[in-house]
Amino acid sequence: MINTKEYRFEVSAAGRVNLIGEHVDYCGGQVLPCALSLKCTVYARPNGTDYINLAWTDLPDQISLDIRNLNGYRALKHAKYQAGCAYLWQTSGHEVKGCDLLIDCKVPFGSGLSSSAAIEVSTLAAYALVAGERPDPVEIAKIAQRAEQEYAGVNCGIMDQYASACGKAGQAMLLNCKTLACQYIPVQTGEYSLVIINTNKPHSLVESKYNERRQETEFALSVLKRKLPIDCLADVRPFELLEYRGGLPLTIYRRAKHVVDECYRVQSATAVMQKGDMKRFGELLTESHRSLAELYEVTGKELDSLAHAAWDHYACAGARMTGAGFGGCTVNLVKTDAVEDFKQKVCRRYKQETGYDATCYDVEIGDGLKYLEL
Ligand code: GLA
Repeated sequence: MINTKEYRFEVSAAGRVNLIGEHVDYCGGQVLPCALSLKCTVYARPNGTDYINLAWTDLPDQISLDIRNLNGYRALKHAKYQAGCAYLWQTSGHEVKGCDLLIDCKVPFGSGLSSSAAIEVSTLAAYALVAGERPDPVEIAKIAQRAEQEYAGVNCGIMDQYASACGKAGQAMLLNCKTLACQYIPVQTGEYSLVIINTNKPHSLVESKYNERRQETEFALSVLKRKLPIDCLADVRPFELLEYRGGLPLTIYRRAKHVVDECYRVQSATAVMQKGDMKRFGELLTESHRSLAELYEVTGKELDSLAHAAWDHYACAGARMTGAGFGGCTVNLVKTDAVEDFKQKVCRRYKQETGYDATCYDVEIGDGLKYLEL
């Protein structure tokens, strides 16, 4: 049991599910994530020393970080996130004060539901509060992204950290990743429910493959920039990509085609959700998965097996992988009265095909960053 009375602050940030707009955030595209009610909560108190003492509710490790040497902890398995956040917070001009942190992360690790963003955002807000600062969610999201890129070594976009910090209960965020303009869109799914299913396949190669995809899209941009007045790949329109495809190696063209088409799917999906056309919304989810499987090649056997089983179920309007891919979760749009049957049949078939037991979560769209003084 956590004795919260021993701490001064309780800070929580959310995991996220991305409804659509996958692998486009780092290309300046729009995404449509929601914060989940699955949270990472950090309990914090100042300790008057030069150390950040870390403990976890579900890990035996206890680690102390010297705040005069925060650059030196990149090799740590779990604590690299807290160290990276402290280092980036300090080097961006904020004060890091000695504190004790207890980390209680309920976002499953390696699930593609952004446990690392939830850890980073809640930890940064805890550092701010301990030093007497009022945390600004957008600034925290940006510094959390830099901690992931510069300390943990994943060249990620802004989507996860932004959703984790700025989410609102019941709302999706239509986030323009070029300008950070964000429009909140109520998630009204009518007679359908959103179901998340975890492949439970341990992530492998996700970081190197992720960075590779990012380089491929940067290469596509550098070629297309010579022909088109664009700042990012999301600015390219489908007919322009077709016109200049001859200048791109085939693999690079396929990556760019995914990005350009997915940006259009985000616009359509937002419009049809606002109109309440959930059948079409589901079809767009399925089209997104196909593109991620065939053009972007970030799904793999397990995610494809879960998606195919979902598509074959009578009550499913559509399904896709969510997050970086290579494992992690699918998001499924399913008639509410058939959700139990859906979960049972999809998980059974997935187990037969892959040998893994899947885990289902019902989506509850929660708030992003929240904190209170205890
Ligand atoms: C990971 C990254 C995000 C985003 C997704 C794919 O979750 O952290 O920035 O690129 O993959 O859409």
